Amino acid sequence: MLSLEEVRKTFRPGRGLGRELTAWLDSWRGRREKRPGGVQAVRGVSLEIRPGEILGLVGESGSGKSTLGRIMAGLYRPEAGRTFFDGQDLASLDQGGWKKFRRRVQIMFQDPVSSLNPRLTAGAVVEEGLLIHGLGRAEERRARVRGLLGEVGLPADSAARYGHEFSGGQRQRLSLARALALDPELLIADEPVSALDVSIQAQIINLLMDLRQKRGLTLVLVSHDLPLVRIMADRLAVMYGGLIMELVERGLLDKVDHHPYVRSLWASAGGRAGPSGPLLEGEPPDPQNPPPGCPFHPRCREAAELCRREPPALTELAPGFSCACHRRPAAL
Ligand SMILES: Nc1ncnc2c1ncn2[C@@H]1O[C@H](COP(=O)(O)OP(=O)(O)O)[C@@H](O)[C@H]1O
Ligand SMILES: [Mg+2]
Repeated sequence: MLSLEEVRKTFRPGRGLGRELTAWLDSWRGRREKRPGGVQAVRGVSLEIRPGEILGLVGESGSGKSTLGRIMAGLYRPEAGRTFFDGQDLASLDQGGWKKFRRRVQIMFQDPVSSLNPRLTAGAVVEEGLLIHGLGRAEERRARVRGLLGEVGLPADSAARYGHEFSGGQRQRLSLARALALDPELLIADEPVSALDVSIQAQIINLLMDLRQKRGLTLVLVSHDLPLVRIMADRLAVMYGGLIMELVERGLLDKVDHHPYVRSLWASAGGRAGPSGPLLEGEPPDPQNPPPGCPFHPRCREAAELCRREPPALTELAPGFSCACHRRPAAL
């Protein structure tokens, strides 16, 4: 459905006068230091999203999940690599093509407070996309908004209320209604329950699973919460330092020889319901200056000479299990 080929995204320090001035001053002072080349958030990711699946994108904070999610949603243009949706290269879309893409692929975020315009009523929030795409007459749109609010479990009178009048869970229901208004095929949910109380999390998760079933949605679930992703996702992609370390089908979670990072990540998640390994020690890599070779090697107990030099490629080791580790030779 959506496929990424070797996509990269680096956040460069701001251009403009400030940067040019510093560069000029530096050269005037005879300084020839290498300026940092920016934050390498995503460093060459290839991934395919299959129609109808829930793909979980997991990893610690800063590993590049949100950046990758935004690339998938077309919100960031990667500086290298390509993104295809339904066989079409996003870079080749004209204005009409983008408009269609925006209807078919939607993204929702963790914090419903900052992503909802406080001056709009819930009805207006949900109607916005319909208006932009010129869908339906006023009466039809209002009926559709009522239907959507009901579908996400919001009370009938919510259309006239403002974002701040809702609880956290209700606000997340509202962002879901907004995301669904254009009937998307692919929904990217970036930490959709991380800001919510645990008791409310379960309600939103159930709602997502229900909607996915009813609408035949494809879902990318971005989350740092490994046990949660295990419950929801059909496949898990684990990111570290802007790269995918492992891609595994849920059914194989207890059967394969996991990447050392993944084993430690499970251990840090409390060892609940997952493969276990030594606890994580040390710090994640500096995205402005990632180590050579495997990004995990400074924290890895299995690291060998090769790991310090060569970045391992994500390699299919068994059907349904790919791993980027020099110490995991193919079993088949
Ligand atoms: N808009 C941005 N400008 C500069 N740096 C960014 C921006 N967004 C993310 N980053 C940096 O990119 C890296 C990856 O961030 P992100 O994709 O948000 O990771 P995650 O979602 O896994 O926490 C981090 O080091 C983060 O600080
Ligand atoms: Mg994030």
